[in-house]
Amino acid sequence: MSEILEHAQALFSYASMLRRDFHRHPEIGFQEVRTAGIVARELTQLGLEVTTGIAETGVVALLEGSQPGPVVLLRFDMDALPIQEETGAEYASQNPGVMHACGHDGHMAVGLTVAKLLAARRDSLRGTLKFVFQPAEEGLGGAERMVEAGVLENPQVDRTLALHIWNEKPVGWVGIPAGPLMAGADMFTVRVEGKGGHGAMPHQAVDPIAAAAQMITALQTIVSRSLSPLESAVLSVCQISAGEAFNVIPQAAEFRGTIRSFEPHVRSRVVERFNAVIHETAAAMGCTASIQLRAITPPVINDPDAAALVTKAAQEAAPELAIDPNYRSMVSEDMAFMMEKVSGCYFLVGSGRPEPETSYPHHHPKFDIDEAVLPYAAAVMAAAAMEALK
Ligand code: NI
Repeated sequence: MSEILEHAQALFSYASMLRRDFHRHPEIGFQEVRTAGIVARELTQLGLEVTTGIAETGVVALLEGSQPGPVVLLRFDMDALPIQEETGAEYASQNPGVMHACGHDGHMAVGLTVAKLLAARRDSLRGTLKFVFQPAEEGLGGAERMVEAGVLENPQVDRTLALHIWNEKPVGWVGIPAGPLMAGADMFTVRVEGKGGHGAMPHQAVDPIAAAAQMITALQTIVSRSLSPLESAVLSVCQISAGEAFNVIPQAAEFRGTIRSFEPHVRSRVVERFNAVIHETAAAMGCTASIQLRAITPPVINDPDAAALVTKAAQEAAPELAIDPNYRSMVSEDMAFMMEKVSGCYFLVGSGRPEPETSYPHHHPKFDIDEAVLPYAAAVMAAAAMEALK
């Protein structure tokens, strides 16, 4: 076993204790007050230079090596989700309706373990490690706010690293692609305006529900008919609302959803077809339609050199790990905002439980991880950080 993995394994009970404590006391984005307090306390105890209250609840800590060198940013997210936990675990959430259902509790435990591993090796470090504990990753714009608050400057960051523990894969698996990893996300709202009337006299009304139904069906042909089968995009309608009574044709209907894609030309093709399908279907059905389309997150795209250094670090830290260079997912991550400005590598570390019947996906009320992931994630991240300083 490598020296760094051995050290991370020795810190397992520290990581598990922290992770369970964060899990018991989850906090929603920008409200991570207790959480940030523990993070800051642990980092201060290690002798790091800690700043709190960045973008509301963010924590940044600098670990200076014994000699000057590059600045590498390590990012960990802190927020929980508005989900009622159903795991029945001994360490289940004590905050009703709030749950660490994405594993960010584990990320903080890993981040603090990495800080311990690297603080102990300070004498051999050339450069600066900037630990960033970010609030509000779950669609609330935490990373963007941290960038605006200047987290990439003072000192100027040369390289970014981040990870997610990943329940879709078992412990021992690590995903490190040298290119796109997660999709960019857009959010849309479509409002279809018709003319209300009596449910029994549709000829005197203009039915926005019938028009919205046509649109939603036609939208599903964009990915299947307008894109090359070798390119990836997703268009999902996830919310729909119209009407108040069984016998009244409403005035308007509204639906909302998301578009995911990796490449700008794919995104523009989807958006172009999206606009055409909505407006031309509306015209055909005698309605009018308005579209609000908002880009939420760019895609997460790994820099090939950064991916190579993380791969090398992972192989050296734990040769038994199965490294997957081809994994991609259509989910999104706001780390993309930092990586857009300073290139780096985002990697995934398998955390699925060995028994498939107790392994649930991220954002599920029964989501839980195999804590055996913690030392692996910490050892790979620490080794990658040291490699990035070379
Ligand atoms: Ni997450």
